[in-house]
Amino acid sequence: MRREIEIAPGVAMPLLGFGVFQIPAGAATEEAVGWALEAGYRHVDTAQAYGNEADVGRALQRSGLAREDVFVTTKFATGRDDPVAELERSLGRLGIGEVDLYLVHNPRGGPRRAWPAMERALESGLARSIGVSNFSLDELDSLLAAGSVRPAVNQVQFSPFRYRRLLLEGCRARGVEVEGYGSLTHGRELDDPTLAAVARQHRRTPAQILLRWSIERAVAVIPKSVHRERIGENAAIFDFELTAEDIARLDALDRTGGAAIAVERPWWTPRGRVRRVRRTLWRRLGGGSRRDQ
Ligand SMILES: NC(=O)c1ccc[n+]([C@@H]2O[C@H](COP(=O)([O-])OP(=O)(O)OC[C@H]3O[C@@H](n4cnc5c(N)ncnc54)[C@H](OP(=O)(O)O)[C@@H]3O)[C@@H](O)[C@H]2O)c1
Repeated sequence: MRREIEIAPGVAMPLLGFGVFQIPAGAATEEAVGWALEAGYRHVDTAQAYGNEADVGRALQRSGLAREDVFVTTKFATGRDDPVAELERSLGRLGIGEVDLYLVHNPRGGPRRAWPAMERALESGLARSIGVSNFSLDELDSLLAAGSVRPAVNQVQFSPFRYRRLLLEGCRARGVEVEGYGSLTHGRELDDPTLAAVARQHRRTPAQILLRWSIERAVAVIPKSVHRERIGENAAIFDFELTAEDIARLDALDRTGGAAIAVERPWWTPRGRVRRVRRTLWRRLGGGSRRDQ
């Protein structure tokens, strides 16, 4: 079983990474990233919008690992103006000289807007590779028609329940690797009966089955957890295999219709932002989680 994929010439990305979205800035992020590095993760996924790059940086420094042994991704917050200036600030917070992967967080403002500056970030050595996130195939094509560097990666929500088959095939046909987020369904579908049955059969947890389903397709995963045992559990996915029958059962859970689109309800559009504010208010009033992304 491969543990990494080459996303650009000379740039190998570990298939297992650790995501830090919604881990509070400060000790919580530093501690969780520290546990992940101790458990063997060698890939951390953060973003300017998450507000916890400095804590990721502190955990990297405290780990004593060599810089080249940990793959670090951050993402350009597309509400801001200049991807190069923002990356310089990210590097300061992370305490490193370059990131391994710098992603455009979403196509807000148009799929081509950030790309010329992303290419400059690559040329100037601030990033070893550049890519995009939440880009549908038509947005990717628009970017490819205008840019000179091909995105190394498209990071999208991807799991058996969000099995975007056309997007995966389309990205690969264009030489762009797919990296999955929400591989654990943001924790929402872990008690699905089909998933539970496959998990029982393998004496594994539903979370491990979901992660294995992705990496068997060479789609990288970046599960997030603030619990040390779960961080360890999510890393123990390289010592078993799913059968073709398991994979077919899991594939059938897809609710996107094999979509070529990356996101059903974009949160960065004006309508999406209104929905987000409503959801936050709903949660504050005790209505529980209705988060999509
Ligand atoms: N590019 C983008 O737009 C984008 C969007 C979303 C996420 N991301 C990236 O992808 C990463 C992962 O996505 P995500 O955090 O949204 O969702 P996820 O990894 O699918 O799910 C995380 C949820 O699952 C729970 N969980 C983790 N391990 C578990 C286990 N073994 N058993 C049971 N529950 C478990 C976590 O709870 P606890 O923490 O309580 O354990 C958390 O609630 C993010 O951290 C971020 O780096 C990128």
